Amino acid sequence: MTSPVAVIGAGLVGAGWAIVFSRAGYPVRLYDGDASIRERALVGIRANLDDLESFQLIESAQAVIDNILVCDSLEDAVSGVSYVQESVFETVLVKSEITAALDAACDEHVVIGSSSSGIPASAFTEDLEGRHRCLIAHPVNPPYLVPLVELVPAPWTDSAVVQSTHDLMTAVGQAPIRIEREVEGFVLNRLQGALLNEAWALFEEGYASAEDIDKTVSEGLGLRWSFMGPFQTIDLNAPGGIADYAERLGPLYHSVAQSRTEPKPWSKDLIQDVESERRKDLSEQGLASRREWRDRRLMALAAHKNKASKDIGD
Ligand SMILES: NC(=O)c1ccc[n+]([C@@H]2O[C@H](COP(=O)([O-])OP(=O)(O)OC[C@H]3O[C@@H](n4cnc5c(N)ncnc54)[C@H](O)[C@@H]3O)[C@@H](O)[C@H]2O)c1
Repeated sequence: MTSPVAVIGAGLVGAGWAIVFSRAGYPVRLYDGDASIRERALVGIRANLDDLESFQLIESAQAVIDNILVCDSLEDAVSGVSYVQESVFETVLVKSEITAALDAACDEHVVIGSSSSGIPASAFTEDLEGRHRCLIAHPVNPPYLVPLVELVPAPWTDSAVVQSTHDLMTAVGQAPIRIEREVEGFVLNRLQGALLNEAWALFEEGYASAEDIDKTVSEGLGLRWSFMGPFQTIDLNAPGGIADYAERLGPLYHSVAQSRTEPKPWSKDLIQDVESERRKDLSEQGLASRREWRDRRLMALAAHKNKASKDIGD
């Protein structure tokens, strides 16, 4: 029998984590500081589970939800657990307070992972007695459909804590990566930022419409990226592999990088121009149903990837 896991914060990301752990057979203790969120949490989770069941990504929505217990206090939630996934608001103050409360309430052996998108663990764990057991375990939304988890230790995080979190994330079907030391934006948002900054700049300079820049990814780069990364991609894009590619195209990429030595903030006018193009394609009222569409597309992709790895191999 696997030991229970606590998920603290039952918003968008916390509810997603509850699904990740419970569908892997780990009993989940879910807690949120807001009573109205606690009351509604299982309704939203149930809807997500029904979708997952309809895409045959889980066998039984009922079995997964039966594994989740909503608790009325932090202490109840962490009692008897081996791991805590904190997913509360993204401010240093809130993260500091909740992590101090968790450090006080959890048994010594319990690891405390934070979903923080950008605040490093060193910003809110330095003064804690149990700071060696704290780290960032940054998911991608929704974590039950996008498996990557960035593990980012603070300078004082015990290496065994990183290893055990890596093992746990692998065991529940996530795809953990290790980031050796803290860096702003971690890896995912640094990569995403490089692409976004270039996309805004190309639009601002009038090289292409927002629609065509989006299409470059959705009909171009992104097709490969759903199953291979940038190094794996270029390794196959020159007859002699990655070194051959670097020799042929390295100078081009270096020259492109040199043309962007002074990055500019995304200006109000620029944002307005891209937004007005986006709103012609999708009204503000349509955003919520488009998010549901995105999640169903992700489910179809996850189902395809599961099948393809059985049929074709990884
Ligand atoms: N939304 C995303 O795309 C995304 C992706 C990756 C990581 N994250 C990170 O995950 C964390 C949660 O984000 P979210 O999008 O789920 O936010 P959210 O606002 O949907 O949920 C946060 C929840 O935390 C609860 N909460 C706040 N303070 C609390 C406390 N002291 N004790 C207990 N519960 C408390 C709130 O009531 C709320 O329900 C943040 O650190 C965020 O940066 C978000």
